Amino acid sequence: MNAKRFALASLLSAAVMALFADPVAAQSTSADLIGELNIKLLYIALPITLLVEIILIYAVLRFKDNDEPKPTRENRRLEITWTVATAIILLFVGVASYGVMADPAVTFTGGEDEIAPNEGDVYVQAEAYQWGWTMTYPEEDITAPQGDNGPVITVPEGQDLYIGVTSEDVIHGFHVPELGLKMDAMPSQVQYLQTTPEETGTYQGYCSEYCGLAHSQMYFSIEVVDQAEYDQWLDEQTAEESEDAADMNETANATA
Ligand code: CUA
Repeated sequence: MNAKRFALASLLSAAVMALFADPVAAQSTSADLIGELNIKLLYIALPITLLVEIILIYAVLRFKDNDEPKPTRENRRLEITWTVATAIILLFVGVASYGVMADPAVTFTGGEDEIAPNEGDVYVQAEAYQWGWTMTYPEEDITAPQGDNGPVITVPEGQDLYIGVTSEDVIHGFHVPELGLKMDAMPSQVQYLQTTPEETGTYQGYCSEYCGLAHSQMYFSIEVVDQAEYDQWLDEQTAEESEDAADMNETANATA
């Protein structure tokens, strides 16, 4: 590949990268923050990539016919410069990433009694097993119904959503890429996610930790609906649950 073509290819790939980094409408507060961080890091990575490519191309062109190359001499000033520059860049990346990961909109840092503290907040417990998910709403005492592709969690738009992630057996992973949600599901341990869904729609969830034969079939989804629709859904589910309970009581009474 000649140098011109190489330079063109580098520029083009940089442009494509910038294009893909264009923030899509944020579907949740978590996705929003993570998207912003991605852009920030890209703005740092892009000039560095270009600088390195340009120096590389220059070196290739300038010295390609050099039959007697001379070794590089020690250059303390240059060494100090690139060490300090790298340290500054890494520090920025670290601080920016920590700022997002420690943000309450991404990682829930509160205690057990701070889960869903406000009126309208929703708390869902996601329990993974080999191979599927049991999604429950402990406060409403309902279980999320099964859809075509695993259980469907229905939540209201614009309200705080808390998800307690745990596992019955091995380590699984709760992952909803579009909502910026990811948490390992650990046996005998509950870890919490917190976010606010900001756009109605259906979001596909996956198991993100290899857990055996049917790992790839551990689907679930999150359905974000408006508040009125959610209230209605909640009423229906509660009615169904009490019907089931009544049925069970009847059966129990009949056998007694
Ligand atoms: Cu569960 Cu992979």
